Amino acid sequence: MKQTEARVISNKMILPGGPHRAGQALASNLMWLHCPEIARKVKPGQFVMVRCADLPLPRPFSIHQVNEDNLALFFAVLEGGKGSQWMAQCQVGHTLKLMGPLGHGFTIYPDSKNLLLVAGGMGLAPLCFLAHQAVRESHSVTLLLGAAVSPLYSEQPGNLLPPEIKLVNVTEDGSVGRKGMITDLLPDLINSADQVFACGPLPMYKTIARMPELKDKPVQVSLEVRMGCGLGICYGCTVKTRNGLRQVCKDGPIFNLDEVLWEELADI
Ligand SMILES: Cc1cc2nc3c(=O)[nH]c(=O)nc-3n(C[C@H](O)[C@H](O)[C@H](O)COP(=O)(O)OP(=O)(O)OC[C@H]3O[C@@H](n4cnc5c(N)ncnc54)[C@H](O)[C@@H]3O)c2cc1C
Ligand code: FES
Repeated sequence: MKQTEARVISNKMILPGGPHRAGQALASNLMWLHCPEIARKVKPGQFVMVRCADLPLPRPFSIHQVNEDNLALFFAVLEGGKGSQWMAQCQVGHTLKLMGPLGHGFTIYPDSKNLLLVAGGMGLAPLCFLAHQAVRESHSVTLLLGAAVSPLYSEQPGNLLPPEIKLVNVTEDGSVGRKGMITDLLPDLINSADQVFACGPLPMYKTIARMPELKDKPVQVSLEVRMGCGLGICYGCTVKTRNGLRQVCKDGPIFNLDEVLWEELADI
């Protein structure tokens, strides 16, 4: 796959630092890029590999939203994260090199009326784009959005969530919305959902995979593992599934919840 150039249109911190599954985030940024080659064909759930300065390996990021020829990335600037810190300092007019769109996106079944989107922290990144598609196709969307502490993305001016969705905020410390973990609230919302789409940290997936309430529901998850190439070459992203070994970059990153052998996956 050839590299595509993308010009930075805006790059702003949208959330302050806070806990992240990789340790600590210094901030979370929303970056808009002009990139018609990718924006015109990408589907919700797909991702791009971003070449960050002269780092040997590109970094994977989901598409957060598209607008005609432009696409948005929503990314955590990680403490000790060379790639994300480099991206955070990119100024308007700067050109990034991207590869994409990569992987398979989410599948919304045409007869699914009610969709439940479950976002743990930065897991919102691919689900915002999915929410827009779902609303456009007249599905009813509930978004369960959780974080350890406030502020939440949904409260920030300039957030990209479609206004038509029903939003349920939850924080672990109760500072915004309901108090608790996403997985505490999930059983209350699950009955009316025809399909569930989730993105979040591995412990969240391991918990929902054990929930009896989700047993007969179609649940698609976006799997974030460390990636080397993003192109199916290095096998660095291989996971065990009921259908054998699968490469997250090529066969995913979207998988059915009951397909992945969760207990075989090491926390990263
Ligand atoms: C398909 C896919 C889509 C993704 N989409 C997004 C997105 O939209 N927004 C976003 O913020 N992030 C996303 N990620 C995660 C993102 O790729 C990493 O945060 C990024 O590569 C970190 O790069 P870095 O150079 O800043 O950090 P590095 O220098 O690579 O690592 C810094 C620290 O973070 C840890 N770390 C790095 N990547 C991960 C990871 N995937 N899981 C757990 N710990 C990690 C490292 O072990 C290290 O301790 C996605 C990952 C995948 C596989
Ligand atoms: S990241 Fe190299 S094969 Fe998937």
